[in-house]
Amino acid sequence: VPVPALSSDPTQALAQLRLASNRCRACPIGAHATQSVFGEGPVRAALMVVGEQPGDQEDLRGRPFVGPAGQLFERGIAELGWPRAEIYVTNAVKHFKYELRGQRRIHKTPSQQEAAACLQWLEHELAQVQPRAVVALGATAARALLGRPVAVMRERGRWHTGVGGEQVLVTLHPSALLRADPADHEAAYAAWLKDLALASEFVT
Ligand code: URA
Repeated sequence: VPVPALSSDPTQALAQLRLASNRCRACPIGAHATQSVFGEGPVRAALMVVGEQPGDQEDLRGRPFVGPAGQLFERGIAELGWPRAEIYVTNAVKHFKYELRGQRRIHKTPSQQEAAACLQWLEHELAQVQPRAVVALGATAARALLGRPVAVMRERGRWHTGVGGEQVLVTLHPSALLRADPADHEAAYAAWLKDLALASEFVT
């Protein structure tokens, strides 16, 4: 996928990458999505948070984590005292993959080939933002960042070394909490916040 010659100004370079990702057809997902959803946040944020892929609302609005999973994410970081505006928030896969069920677009997990095809955008974001630490939300993000399959429940709540040498904290995706049995939800949410809190030193 052609990436333009990037500006030496990281803000400009990220804007160029955002435009280029919108045209990406390195895998079939892009042709069916409304637009790519590129990362957003301060260009030299100390912390980058990586999710899986945009959902229905993210696809329509062009912003990461604005749907139901995003609301849970926002609740969590608010409890931790993390201002969202200080974090660079992105996804491992930039286009929304879905299956039509009647009128509804149901999220489909991206395949490993699709995630691999999309990796270049995340690598560019890492190179431009140069975060001091990265949080991987769920298995797709963890695999993209660590370069190997990750058993989230076994490897959560710890720092790992990313492919590019970054410090990567692995934890659950907020959607996993939304799917949890209501009886387990509060405990699962508390454990998730405890994981995230390990990255608090990188926020403000
Ligand atoms: N889930 C994700 O992983 N990312 C989003 O942006 C929204 C939902």
